[in-house]
Amino acid sequence: VDIASWLKYAEAKIVSHSPRRDAELLLLHRLGKSCAYLKAFDREDISRLAADLECDLAQLQTGYPIAYVLGYKAFWDMTLKVTPAVLIPRPDTETLIEAMQSLFPRDSQATMVDLGTGSGAIAIALSRIFAKADITATDSSGAALDIAQENAKRWALANITFKCGHWLNGYAPHRFDAIVSNPPYIDSDDHHLLLLQHEPLSALVAADGGLADIKKIIQQSQVCLKTGGYLLLEHGYQQGDAVRGLLGDGWTKVSTHRDLAGHERVTMAKKY
Ligand SMILES: C[S@@+](CC[C@H](N)C(=O)[O-])C[C@H]1O[C@@H](n2cnc3c(N)ncnc32)[C@H](O)[C@@H]1O
Repeated sequence: VDIASWLKYAEAKIVSHSPRRDAELLLLHRLGKSCAYLKAFDREDISRLAADLECDLAQLQTGYPIAYVLGYKAFWDMTLKVTPAVLIPRPDTETLIEAMQSLFPRDSQATMVDLGTGSGAIAIALSRIFAKADITATDSSGAALDIAQENAKRWALANITFKCGHWLNGYAPHRFDAIVSNPPYIDSDDHHLLLLQHEPLSALVAADGGLADIKKIIQQSQVCLKTGGYLLLEHGYQQGDAVRGLLGDGWTKVSTHRDLAGHERVTMAKKY
């Protein structure tokens, strides 16, 4: 089997939005090479890898996400290590990073916290943009924090502190200039969960129609934000109305940003 013929074979087997690209990624991962290699050496014999590649394809066919097979996922301007202990970062979440860029200058010394950091995606992207900011990243999962810290060692500046804990419990009033989070927001009855069964449930599901964690974070943020500070929350594409409705007393400048697909995805508010 050579590279060109294996790619054809795998492309036909993979069911995804980008079977050719996924086949290339699997092969590059096993070869330990970068993209250009595939074109340059497309007649190279790869029979030695055939058994491992067949395992990879079988995993994909059970619906196991390619990011977990590869062990990494691209986010913002980095590739982050991911394991089944963390949610696979989504491009939609970059909407939140862009919203932060529009609120704070690059040389901002603001205090920022990323609640439920998972792989560290949000906190690490913020650290790379806001080199002088004082960033905290928290999660209730110690296993997730281990991955986030590994990613931070590789990609972040030295301005992130990691803490294990539940949302804003234990933080002093008026502590932060910005609180950001992509919390669990899927209702336990939502059929979308069937497609997400390999990712940690604790990263996905929230009580109260998916709004319980969002409500808790909004309440606690009203206390822990400085006056004039910002709260930015990612949420489900049908939750914009509900989340704006929760940002009543004590909040101003409530607005929602849309993701790449045009769905309402990140709602922000300013504390007054
Ligand atoms: C949707 S994932 C987001 C992960 C990452 N921020 C991202 O955007 O890719 C939600 C994260 O919140 C964490 N989490 C769930 N309940 C929590 C709680 N009560 N306090 C802190 N973190 C929590 C989960 O462990 C998970 O890492």
